[in-house]
This record gives sequence, C-alpha cells and structure tokens, in this order.
Amino acid sequence: VSGFRDQARWQAGWCTTLGSPFTALICTLLVDRLPGEAPLGRLLDGWQGDAFADVLALRVAGGLHAMVRSGDAPALRSLYPPAPLPDADLLWAAMSPVLERPEMRAFVARSPQTNEVGRSGVLVPGLLEVAAATGLPLDLFELGASAGLNLLPDRYRVEMAGVVAGDPGSCLRISPRWEGRPPPEVPLRIAGRLGVDVAPLDLVRDADRMLAYLWPDQPERLARMEAAVALASADPPEVLAGDAAAFLDERLTLTEGRAAVVFHSIAFQYFPDTTKARIRARMATVGATATPERPLAWLRFEADDPAASTPPTLRLQLWPEGTDRLLAEAHPHGTSVRWLA
Ligand SMILES: C[S@@+](CC[C@H](N)C(=O)[O-])C[C@H]1O[C@@H](n2cnc3c(N)ncnc32)[C@H](O)[C@@H]1O
Repeated sequence: VSGFRDQARWQAGWCTTLGSPFTALICTLLVDRLPGEAPLGRLLDGWQGDAFADVLALRVAGGLHAMVRSGDAPALRSLYPPAPLPDADLLWAAMSPVLERPEMRAFVARSPQTNEVGRSGVLVPGLLEVAAATGLPLDLFELGASAGLNLLPDRYRVEMAGVVAGDPGSCLRISPRWEGRPPPEVPLRIAGRLGVDVAPLDLVRDADRMLAYLWPDQPERLARMEAAVALASADPPEVLAGDAAAFLDERLTLTEGRAAVVFHSIAFQYFPDTTKARIRARMATVGATATPERPLAWLRFEADDPAASTPPTLRLQLWPEGTDRLLAEAHPHGTSVRWLA
C-alpha cells in the first residue's frame, strides 16, 4: 500500500523534472520530517483515499503558498522565491509551525484545481487545423474546463513559429518554444463557447486558490495566470457545473455553417470510466451525422499513459471523414510544442 510519504517522494521527483526545485524541496521535507504524531501527519499518513490520485503533497504545498501569498506567514515568505533556494533546515524551521495550523488541514481537505492558460499554446494550433480544414468559424465545447480560461483563445496573443493567432494586441502573450513546421496561418474565428466541469472555478472567488497551486519558483506561470484572470474576469466564459458526458448528451449540437469542436486538456484521465465510454460513444454518434457544412472535431491534449513520463499528445479527430491524427507532443503546461503533423 502506498501512502502519503510515497506520493510526496514521487511528487518531489516530478517537480524536479518539471522545473520546480523549490516545490521539490518542500515535498522532500514533508517525506523526511513531517512528524507522524502531529495533527497534519496523522491526517495525511492515515488518509482514507488514494494518496496519489489525491495528489496530497501538492495540497500541502498549495496551502503553504496560499498563506505566504495572503501575508499570513511572513517568516516563511522571506524564504520563498524570488529569494534563492533556501537551506533545508531553515525552510523546515519556518514551515513546520505553519503546517500545524487548522487552516492547513482545511486546505488539504480540498482537491487541487488549476486552470493552465499556457495550454492554449497547444490547443490553438489544433483549432487552427480545424479552421483550415473546414473554413468555418468554431463552436467550442470544453470538457473539464475548470475556470474556462482555455475557452478564450481569441483574447490572447498566441505566437507559434512566427504565426500569430488570437488578439495581436492582447496583454497576455502565449509563445511556446516551437519545433517543427508552423501551424496553418488562418484566422481564429470563434462563433460560440461553452464549458463544463464537475467543480467549476470562479475566476473572482477562486483566483487566490488557483494561483496558490502554481509553483512559487515559476514566476512566468504565475504572471501569466494573473494576467489571464484579470483579462477573463471582466467577461468570463460560461462553464456549467456537471459531468462531461451528460453535458455532451445535452449540449452538443451541430450547427450549419459552424465547426463544432469538442476539446479537453489534461482532464480525460480524471473522468470516471463510465464518463469516458459515454463520451467516446457520443462523439461517434454525433460524428456520424456530421457533414462538410456542419463538421465535428474532437481535439485532445492528454497524457496517452498518465502513469508514464512521456509527454502528453495533441490529437484531432475530424468528421464527416472521422480521420484521427496525431498533431503534436507538448510540455504538460504548454511551454514547448513539438509539431508532428
Ligand atoms: C487537471 S484539471 C485541467 C483543467 C483544464 N482543462 C486545464 O487544462 O487547465 C481537470 C479538470 O477536470 C474536471 N473534472 C474531473 N472529472 C470530471 C467530470 N466527470 N466531468 C467534468 N469535469 C471533470 C476537474 O474538476 C478539473 O477541473
């Protein structure tokens, strides 16, 4: 049986791989030093669930970051980035009293939720492929949309190997490192947008929590998220609360003169198996009714095998033909794209 400490050790390795030595150090300290007999240690070591699925170490790291950001932990704040990576003993001395606060146990009870707008840097070239193939404006349907930031690609300036899509004058610039041929240079026209999430985030109410789950030594991600929240909260996208499969059954319709695009990023692995099966069936059923005047696309930026450390892939299935293509491999946060199509 693997528990909290195994998960935290695994998380430390993963944070190192993804470029957050600071979060890796926090996770390592939790493994080695969190006292099992104190309230937080008792809660985590005795967790009544799957420590890996519940990403327990990231809950704790998020709780610490939330208290640092809100100004409730000044001693700890002085050791947080942009300060250089602290000495392990110093960091532990500052973080251990904060860990035992009741607010920390309340934070840990909630599941981490993020909405990574950098993934628009991977999704947008996929949307451009649909626009180029169909010549139509797009009707977006996002599954597992979180706060819906990736439903607004036309409000961001997205740069891909010299091709600019979206709003060229946007204050939010997304420009992944790019390898391979550029995406098609066609306008990104969005005719409609709607998302679903079992637990949608509110761009105003949940902004602090969303920012807390970002890693403190990744200032570019933090700045990008702050800009996206500011930009999107003025006119937020609609994200309905509910299950992705039920949403598709009720809401997915094809409209003459528009290309319907069902898309999701790093979400499918979190859906229950029944939901996954219903989504596949619904896509095939609706796909069978698609025509060139009302086509259907299924764009997925997902881990092919969530347990493996291979990069997630971008895939596109397009009806009426039903052809399925591998478009790209990309960094899970969208910082780099290897275009394969
Ligand atoms: C890792 S987040 C990714 C969010 C967003 N797609 C992004 O790329 O930033 C996965 C999301 O899937 C949502 N989710 C999990 N199960 C779901 C379901 N059955 N139906 C709809 N959304 C679900 C979660 O609430 C969470 O917001």
